[in-house]
Amino acid sequence: MSTRLDWISRPAGPLRGELRVPGDKSISHRALMLAALAEGRSRIEGFLEGEDTRATAAVLQQLGARISAPADGVRVVDGVGLHGLHAAEQPLDCGNAGTGMRLLAGLLAGQGFDSMLVGDASLSRRPMRRVIDPLAAMGARIDSRDGLPPLHIHGGLGLCGVRIDTPVASAQVKSAILLAGLYAKGTTGVREPQPTRDYTERMLAAFGWPITFGPGWARLEGGHRLRAADARIPGDFSSAAFFIVAACVTPGSDLVLREVGLNPRRTGLLDVLRAMGADIVIEHLAEQGGEPVGNLRVCHAPLRGIEVPVALVADMIDECPALFVAAARAQGRTVLRGAAELRVKESDRIAVMAAGLRRLGLAVEERLDGAVIEGGALRGGEVDSCGDHRCAMSFALTGLVAEAPVRIRDCANVATSFPGFLDSARAIGMIVAMEPATNEALA
Ligand code: S3P
Repeated sequence: MSTRLDWISRPAGPLRGELRVPGDKSISHRALMLAALAEGRSRIEGFLEGEDTRATAAVLQQLGARISAPADGVRVVDGVGLHGLHAAEQPLDCGNAGTGMRLLAGLLAGQGFDSMLVGDASLSRRPMRRVIDPLAAMGARIDSRDGLPPLHIHGGLGLCGVRIDTPVASAQVKSAILLAGLYAKGTTGVREPQPTRDYTERMLAAFGWPITFGPGWARLEGGHRLRAADARIPGDFSSAAFFIVAACVTPGSDLVLREVGLNPRRTGLLDVLRAMGADIVIEHLAEQGGEPVGNLRVCHAPLRGIEVPVALVADMIDECPALFVAAARAQGRTVLRGAAELRVKESDRIAVMAAGLRRLGLAVEERLDGAVIEGGALRGGEVDSCGDHRCAMSFALTGLVAEAPVRIRDCANVATSFPGFLDSARAIGMIVAMEPATNEALA
């Protein structure tokens, strides 16, 4: 478990230079899982060396997959085949990772043995019925603590393909169903209320599994095989998002983010920031391993508040904390709606971001499914990330553009998705440093 530590972020800028952010978290989880179930040796490059993805690697190793790390950001996986995993002796610890736990729940539901999935305090509060119910409809049996982890997944039950309309737009739910579908008799189909990231679908195809899919739907049949494949994972758009917003709001900035994954189901923030007046140009757009990848050049430009189109929210769900900061520095009011999912992420991100910005002097009205943020001057002060990596990194941006330093509490979990964040931030001109945690109550 991570120890508590705080950050102090100080006014700075302009931000200049070039960065490559770490590999995509969503793709890193999936590449490990499919490589473990494939026949043969897969090499994964650009793997995210974060706590979340390392937890998934450790779980797969406990289940019998052979995974080595010959270099930083590289994993070589000797797959055991679709039916080659074995029962683990200990509970499988997914750490802080909702993606790890929900996808593994689908994958393990089709095994011939029982498994127990556990997580840290934050993950233990996150809703799991959204995967338990559809998997149960396929014939799985998963015991939980009233819909919360730990999950006891019963094996050996024999799954049947069904057609499922998911009530929430969630790539994790869709992926859990598709992974269970690999083991199911017949056809498994998923339809979503709004299209979500399609990495599982793309990667299944890359590993040789016949699958048909389009925005918001996917269909596959059980009983095929996965063949080993090599993967080069692009930079994580969600990690790039902090620096995109940082450059947008800091006068004089001119920043290039290299080799960022630009899957259209991830880049809603670009559309929203551009509608707010941002100056962002995509350069060297190319395809890499079936994914669009490009450089982003971001220059400072004055932002104005907007009503965020609800249709874009699913495509920027992980970027909403950073959007709060862009909105804080925009002229006028920004309205975010249709984002209730933010309340069940690593923290209640609406509450955490609204509380933090208010502490820095802004008027923020919380809504059940979003917030109304009045842009303005940020004074310095102290905010609490509540152990949420994305809130911590977003608050680091407030210090950059505030009138005085901002202390951010509880930042250790940034290592789950972006272990080198402080070095990257300092390399482009931010002034942000670790501080021993304080235990005083927030005034
Ligand atoms: C993810 C899907 C999203 C996202 C999460 C990663 C994935 O979650 O917020 O960070 O890799 O499938 P939901 O499926 O809960 O929307």
